[in-house]
Amino acid sequence: MQQTSSIFSASMLSANWTRFGEEAHAMLAAGVDWLHIDVMDNHYVPNLSFGAALCQALRKEGIKVPLDVHLMANPVDRLIFDFAKAGASLITVHPEACLHVHRTMTQIKELGCQVGIALNPGTPIDCLDHLMEMVDLILVMTVNPGFSGQQFISSLLPKIESVRQRIIASKRDIYLQVDGGLDLNNIKRVQTAGANTFVMGSTLFKSPDYAKMVAMLRTVVG
Ligand code: DX5
Ligand code: ZN
Repeated sequence: MQQTSSIFSASMLSANWTRFGEEAHAMLAAGVDWLHIDVMDNHYVPNLSFGAALCQALRKEGIKVPLDVHLMANPVDRLIFDFAKAGASLITVHPEACLHVHRTMTQIKELGCQVGIALNPGTPIDCLDHLMEMVDLILVMTVNPGFSGQQFISSLLPKIESVRQRIIASKRDIYLQVDGGLDLNNIKRVQTAGANTFVMGSTLFKSPDYAKMVAMLRTVVG
């Protein structure tokens, strides 16, 4: 995956599940870069969503773009094998859900995927210590994980800035992804704080014209 200035990852949790493949193709035709697959287990988060078979189905459907898998599951370790095999490109894990986060991340890389680490609103950024050399993406959650359509927590903007400083200090090309409650009104602030990868669910899928919404968002982030 090559880094471009702004990457839009459409959260398929907000798609119409009765027309999943169609929705994925429509969102890609509208101009998003990646598809974001939110995996929820009713244990780590109070909701239940998709398994690895969904990634496999999307690949069978001819979807070639990066599948950005966000694992909100505990224990998470066994799942990474299934998702890598099913066609995930990037696998993001929450440190709280890994018994040995360094090992989990190493395994994700060994499986040929890029690796992300997700920080919940209450997770301190110190948990990135000792992991900056291996991480490909840092996900700053701007809602508590579990549901789409939640309110963006604006007090987390300084946290995004701090993570950007960490990335600059690392001298590595690491995606800074933000997920949760993004819309036309807050995306510029999120970008200014340092994000370059934007996960969006309800804003995209609730829009009557996907292409128009993606175009408007790209105009805002420039
Ligand atoms: C929340 C998920 C998000 C969410 C995004 O646990 O990780 O990806 O579905 O949806 P919106 O953009 O509606 O907040
Ligand atoms: Zn997500």
